Amino acid sequence: MNSGVSVAAHSGGSSSVPCHVAIIMDGNGRWAKRRGLVRAEGHRAGVQALRRTVRAAGELGIDYLTVYSFSSENWSRPHSEVLDLMALLRRFIRHDLAELHQNNVRVRIIGRRDDLAPDILALLVEAEELTCDNTGLTLVVAFNYGGREEIVRAVQEAARRAVCGNLDPADIDEDTISQLLDTGGIPDPDLLIRTSGELRISNFLLWQCAYTEFFFSPLYWPDFDRAALEDALAEYYTRDRRFGGLTARASP
Ligand code: IPE
Ligand code: IPE
Ligand code: MG
Repeated sequence: MNSGVSVAAHSGGSSSVPCHVAIIMDGNGRWAKRRGLVRAEGHRAGVQALRRTVRAAGELGIDYLTVYSFSSENWSRPHSEVLDLMALLRRFIRHDLAELHQNNVRVRIIGRRDDLAPDILALLVEAEELTCDNTGLTLVVAFNYGGREEIVRAVQEAARRAVCGNLDPADIDEDTISQLLDTGGIPDPDLLIRTSGELRISNFLLWQCAYTEFFFSPLYWPDFDRAALEDALAEYYTRDRRFGGLTARASP
């Protein structure tokens, strides 16, 4: 019987450092507003928090860090803010890629690519190609990402393969869909952190978070730092991950 969630794909119990931490980096706008600044300043400060967090995640032994940087719904923001966010991504990759590469970070991008500006697409591909053989932290950047949209694209691909005779519909299982998602090959997140006090998932990693532990921080994203990440990990270590079974946490 297919148990639904492959326990083997998980990094182990919550007593070990989570293999994969995902973050909804929220609250840039409110951080700026509280200081009487424009929202763009909040996004700029958010990039500094991202740099700190990538460094801390590597130091703490996390293997995968996935960050939600622009959702498929964020296009509905004022055009000027969308332009600011696109400019920040360009600047982040141009400015930080060499250092990430030096630090052995592997970059992967998830999200829909076919409606991105050609220069942004080229930068994303450059980041992935330059770092593809790195063996340190994998930084997964969710850009133009929506969980439902990602599932739709995976299902479309499965249907295409079936029509071509390359995939028997009877053979489609959870692993087939997992592999066809943008996150194919990446283990499911062990821990999802959302900053800014909002208690929702906002279309992030819907399939992948089936058994993820959630941690909600009241901090606005630009205030997030290594200590905040360690607080989230400390809470994670108290969780008893049962995956639907009865196994209590391993006895010491
Ligand atoms: C998160 O901060 C960044 C993005 C969604 C791109 P917000 O811009 O959502 O900040 P708030 O939620 O308005 O404070
Ligand atoms: C989620 O934050 C998306 C990112 C952090 C990139 P939003 O600010 O877009 O989410 P909602 O609108 O509050 O749900
Ligand atoms: Mg927000």
